[in-house]
Amino acid sequence: MKGVILGGGLGSRLYPLTHATNKHLLPIYDRPMVYYPIATLVNAGIDEVIIVTGGPHAGDYLRVLQNGRQLGLRHLEYTYQEREGGIAEALALCEDFADGESIVVILGDNTTDADIRPAVQDFREGALIFLKEVHDPDRYGCPVFDPADRRRILRIEEKPKQPQSNLAVSGLYLYDGRVFDYIKRLKPSGRGELEITDVNNFYLEDGLLRWEELEGFWSDAGTFESLYRSNVFWAEKALGAQAAQSGIVQETIPQ
Ligand code: DAU
Repeated sequence: MKGVILGGGLGSRLYPLTHATNKHLLPIYDRPMVYYPIATLVNAGIDEVIIVTGGPHAGDYLRVLQNGRQLGLRHLEYTYQEREGGIAEALALCEDFADGESIVVILGDNTTDADIRPAVQDFREGALIFLKEVHDPDRYGCPVFDPADRRRILRIEEKPKQPQSNLAVSGLYLYDGRVFDYIKRLKPSGRGELEITDVNNFYLEDGLLRWEELEGFWSDAGTFESLYRSNVFWAEKALGAQAAQSGIVQETIPQ
């Protein structure tokens, strides 16, 4: 499978940081944010990737990532989203790249230490989403389950005022070639965007959506709080690994 990283948008929730560069190039501990979704793809055996860029600092990507070889990519290409038209609009720009094949899509501000290789290897058709328990499901896509069958999703609500579960739809998605047909059927949402949640609901209505719970750490990094949380997790993980190697007992970074 090929990989898609969505890294457009203005990152306006992180002003003034994002006046200087694209959100996905901001640091999470010792590396630029976008390195993490690239590593998730590379660890899953994917070495052909497209990045959707956008905004005034798109050129910074090329300076940082170059051709991606140093990160384990065999093929890296870029495309440019002209406005913040939504995640599904950004994905639509990758139709030629996907060339009818299945794809793994990751939002550029999502980081995880989960291993998605088994899911990628087993994927045949339809869509697969990954859910994660969170304390603030109203910030995310949030599933509504059938009360008679807790495995069955009835629908997914985007940023619900009254979430029906404490699970978030994470920004990792596996889609078959149908995804671009579904995107063509979308209408802009109340916030003027083509929503990935609407795409997932199309798959659901056609009985083609499966879900798994994501193991390990997952967070977005689009707000100061989540950017900080991501930094703390990855710093502690890296420092913990170093300490384990040298036999030093590690102190926890103060929250
Ligand atoms: O993080 C997971 C959540 O991401 C999901 O639970 C939601 O269903 C999904 O809508 C999305 O929610 P956000 O509102 O937090 O997404 P945000 O607008 O922050 O965009 C996430 C990434 O997607 C961003 O880092 C870059 C990319 N993006 C976003 C937009 C709006 C684009 O490439 N182009 C865009 O136009």
